[in-house]
Amino acid sequence: MSAPRTPVLAGNWKMNLGPTEASRFFDDFLAAHPARADATVLFFPPAVSLAAARAALRDRADVRLGVQNVYWEAGGAFTGELSVPMAADAGAEYVLVGHSERRHVFGETVPQTVRKVRAVLDGGLVPVLCVGETLDERRAGRAEAVVDGQLIPVLGTLTQDEAARLLVAYEPVWAIGTGETASPADADAMHRAVRARLASAYGAEAARAIPVLYGGSVKPENARELLAQPEVDGVLVGGASMDPRGFARICAAG
Ligand code: PGA
Repeated sequence: MSAPRTPVLAGNWKMNLGPTEASRFFDDFLAAHPARADATVLFFPPAVSLAAARAALRDRADVRLGVQNVYWEAGGAFTGELSVPMAADAGAEYVLVGHSERRHVFGETVPQTVRKVRAVLDGGLVPVLCVGETLDERRAGRAEAVVDGQLIPVLGTLTQDEAARLLVAYEPVWAIGTGETASPADADAMHRAVRARLASAYGAEAARAIPVLYGGSVKPENARELLAQPEVDGVLVGGASMDPRGFARICAAG
C-alpha cells in the first residue's frame, strides 16, 4: 500500500539570514517557486527573521514557517531562550527539536528533547524531531541503535493522536554540511528502520502516515534521487536552502 504522505520540503537556515536578507531571499524564492498544493514547503529562519519572513509571505500561505529550537517553559526568567507560545505568536507552525547541532554543539540531551517535544505538542505546534548518528557510530555498526536511543524515549511519551502530528528527520551527522550525502539506498534503509520503530510504537498504519525526512548535504543535484526513495518523504536542507533558486529547484524535485 502506498503511503498517505505528501512531500515535505524544508529549509533550515541555521544562524544565517537576518531580517533584511530574509526579505531579499523570499523576493527571489517566491518568484522562482510557484505555489503548489501537493507538497509542504517550509522554512526555519532564525527567530529574529520570522517577522520579516511572515511579511514577505503574506500572500503566500502555501509557504510555512518554523523555529529552530525552543525552551519548554512558556515564559519567565530564561535569558536567551524562546518559548512555544512566543514562536506561535510570531507565525511559527513547526519546531525543530534535537537538531544535530543542538545535540553536538550545545550538548542537548535526550531528556531535554523529550521535554521540548512535549512543550511543542502542548502548545499546538508541530515538532520535527531530528535524529542521526555520527561517523564513528556508523563505523561501529551502531547507527540504528543510536537513532533508536534518540527516538524511543520521545515515542514513549506521545499518545496516538500526538504521534499523528509528529515529523521525524533522519540526518546522519557525518552528512551535515560536509558535502557527503548518504547514498539514496542507505538513506532509504535507515528510513525503513525509523518507520519500523514508529510502527512498533503506534502500529503500521499510523507509522505510514508520519513523514520521515532526510537531511545532510541535500542539493538540487541529488534531491530528486533521494526523494524518489520509497521511505523518504521529504528533505530538510541546510546550506542549499539559502540559495533561493537552488531551493526552488529542490522543491520542484519533490
Ligand atoms: P546541510 O544541513 O544541508 O547543510 O547538510 C542539513 C541540516 O543540518 O539540517
